[in-house]
Amino acid sequence: MQRIGVLTSGGDSPGMNACIRAVVRKAIYHNIEVYGVYHGYQGLISGNIEPLNVGSVADIVHRGGTMLYTARCPEFKTDEGQEKGIAQLKRFGIEGLVVIGGDGSYQGAKKLTEKGFPCIGLPGTIDNDIPGTDFTIGFDTALNTVVQAIDKIRDTATSHERVFAIEVMGRNAGDIALWSGIAAGAETILIPEDGYDINDIVNKIQRGINRGKKHHIMVIAEGVGNADEIAARVKELTKSDLRVSVLGHIQRGGSPTVADRVLAARLGARAVELLMEGKGGRCVGILNNKVVDEDILVALSNKHKIDHSIFKLASEISF
Ligand code: F6P
Repeated sequence: MQRIGVLTSGGDSPGMNACIRAVVRKAIYHNIEVYGVYHGYQGLISGNIEPLNVGSVADIVHRGGTMLYTARCPEFKTDEGQEKGIAQLKRFGIEGLVVIGGDGSYQGAKKLTEKGFPCIGLPGTIDNDIPGTDFTIGFDTALNTVVQAIDKIRDTATSHERVFAIEVMGRNAGDIALWSGIAAGAETILIPEDGYDINDIVNKIQRGINRGKKHHIMVIAEGVGNADEIAARVKELTKSDLRVSVLGHIQRGGSPTVADRVLAARLGARAVELLMEGKGGRCVGILNNKVVDEDILVALSNKHKIDHSIFKLASEISF
C-alpha cells in the first residue's frame, strides 16, 4: 500500500486528533503517503481531500475536536453517494481508508468494504456504544467532564438541600450515565438498557431525607427519555426542591485525557498496520487491554452491551 486516507465522521470526540496524528505519523514512518479527507463522508463525496505530512499533525495531540472536521452525511447512505466516494478515492490514488467515528461512520465503512474498497474502522465517539471494543476514543474524557460537572452540582445541591436530575449524552447507550454516575456517587442512575420504577426513586429519596441526607443526585441517560418529564413526576411525588440540569455538548469538547490519547495512538497505529498487511474491512478495538481487530461486518452484527455488574454495584454503594 502506497497511499492511504483518513477521515473523521459523525459526532466529534476528544482524542480524534490524537488518533489522526497516530495514523499519519505511523504511515509516514513506514513510507506510506497519507491524505486527509475533510468534513467526513461529505468531503469524501465532494473530493475535499488533501495530502498530510508530519507537520500537518503537529500540535494537535492535546486538542479536542477534529482537525479534519466532521459531518453527518445522509447522502453517503445511498449507493450513489458511496460510488461517488469510491471514485474520489481512486482519483486521488488512495488505496485504503481509515474511518474514525461512531456507529454511523462504521456503517459507511461497512458499505465501502462491501463495495470492495479496503476500510478500517476506529471507534471515535463519546457514547462508548461501539461493538468490538471495551472503550471508544473520547469516552474517558467525556466521563471526566461529566464527573467534574456533577461534583460542582453536588456542592449547590447540598447547600440548598435539593434533588438534581442531570441529563447526560449517550444516544441510545447508558455508558456515560453509568460510569459517571458511579464515579460521582449518584444516588440514582437511569439507563436505557434497564427499566426503572418511579416509586423506587421516590422511596429512595424519601429514605435519604429521613436519614438526614442533604442532596440526591439522579443521572439520567438521554436515551431513557425526557429528563424534564421524569424530574417533574419525581418532584410531584416527593414534593422536593428539584432542579434539572442538561449537560449537553460540553461533554464532547476539551483536551483528551491520557487514557484517550494512549488509546487513540494504539488503535490508530494498528489501523495502519492492518492496511499494510493488506487487510481491509476490519475494525480495531481494545478488549481486556489488548488491541484487537475483527471483521467490520461481524462487529456490526453484534450490539454493544452495558456492564451490568457496574450497574448493580452502583445501586449497592450509592443510596
Ligand atoms: O454520538 C455523540 C452524541 O454526542 C450523542 O451522545 C448525542 O445523542 C448526539 O451525538 C448529538 O448529536 P448532535 O451534536 O448532532 O446534536
